[in-house]
Amino acid sequence: MTRKLRAAGIWGTGLAVPERVLTNADLEKMVDTSDEWITTRTGIKERRIAADDEATSDLAAAAARHALTEAGVRAEELDLIIVATVTPDVSFPATACLVQMKLGAANAATFDLSAGCSGFVYALDMAVRAVESGAYNRVLAVGADILSRITDWTDRSTCVLFGDGAGSAVVGPVSEGRGLLATDLGAEGASGHLLTLPAGGSRKPASAETIQSREHFILMQGNEVFKFAVRIMGETTQTSLKKCGMGPDDIDVFVPHQANIRIIEAARKRLGLPEEKVFINVQSYGNTSAASIPIALDEAFRSGKIKDDDIVALVGFGAGLTWASAILRWGR
Ligand SMILES: CC(C)(COP(=O)(O)OP(=O)(O)OC[C@H]1O[C@@H](n2cnc3c(N)ncnc32)[C@H](O)[C@@H]1OP(=O)(O)O)[C@@H](O)C(=O)NCCC(=O)NCCS
Repeated sequence: MTRKLRAAGIWGTGLAVPERVLTNADLEKMVDTSDEWITTRTGIKERRIAADDEATSDLAAAAARHALTEAGVRAEELDLIIVATVTPDVSFPATACLVQMKLGAANAATFDLSAGCSGFVYALDMAVRAVESGAYNRVLAVGADILSRITDWTDRSTCVLFGDGAGSAVVGPVSEGRGLLATDLGAEGASGHLLTLPAGGSRKPASAETIQSREHFILMQGNEVFKFAVRIMGETTQTSLKKCGMGPDDIDVFVPHQANIRIIEAARKRLGLPEEKVFINVQSYGNTSAASIPIALDEAFRSGKIKDDDIVALVGFGAGLTWASAILRWGR
């Protein structure tokens, strides 16, 4: 049983994506693929690619500035910054430290977390628990990744899927009954090899051989990840809903990880949700990893789809393998 002093939830969200657009037509010139294959198998039409001088902390800080403005919070008021990423600027210092510097958030503690595409929901859960406990008052949760830097642009089975971006949320105390109602976070570490970056860590440091064997790029067994995703999206959403005494019918807006339209559609059907409750922008950005859910959440909110007191469900899966879902009642 957790000790909860007060309710906590999202005060404001923000997103940042690079300017450069890479379309399916562009990819047709790079690898043996087609717009038709990519569209029918994934739903993706285009994605954003970071400029050479753009790093994860740049996108993360830009997304954070938008969220701070939306929330009406000054950077100096933040007391904790959590950045979920698998593509930090450098191994250390943490990307959260770089974001702190860029924002001028001198009073914030900082750390990164690594939970793949589930990372933002993990970060949101930690941010909310920190505020609920009374230990922290204004927490920034960011999901940011530049997967284009670890994508093998000669591998058609992965390079068509990913894009770059960042999304963020400022978390603070909210009125009782609003904010985060329940979460379900989990991992299946034994399946970690299904989606991994093999070299560059302590197990296999960078060497001429690891570069030669292309081990600094994403290695994925796509169909196995697909099966896991379809199963877990429905299961974890049901688990979170049960924790707050709700069912799928109570969901007003469903914001899933934007990896593949077919995975989203399978999850929607398993939960019996009507199409109009599901927010989809995978066609515009592809899979932006930890940024996917907060980017979708921000677009859903700014487009007027999410209103005060709506029940919003966030659900993701990713490297780990991990999963995470959250049920929120929107508003402060
Ligand atoms: C990657 C994914 C789109 C592949 O779709 P799929 O229907 O499983 O396709 P398969 O991998 O079975 O490949 C089918 C065929 O298409 C081919 N193919 C793969 N990528 C292709 C591409 N970009 N263009 C054209 N053909 C392609 C394959 O070589 C294979 O050909 P073959 O039948 O001659 O061997 C799908 O498995 C997926 O989305 N998985 C989840 C990945 C994910 O979300 N990862 C991130 C987790 S956060």
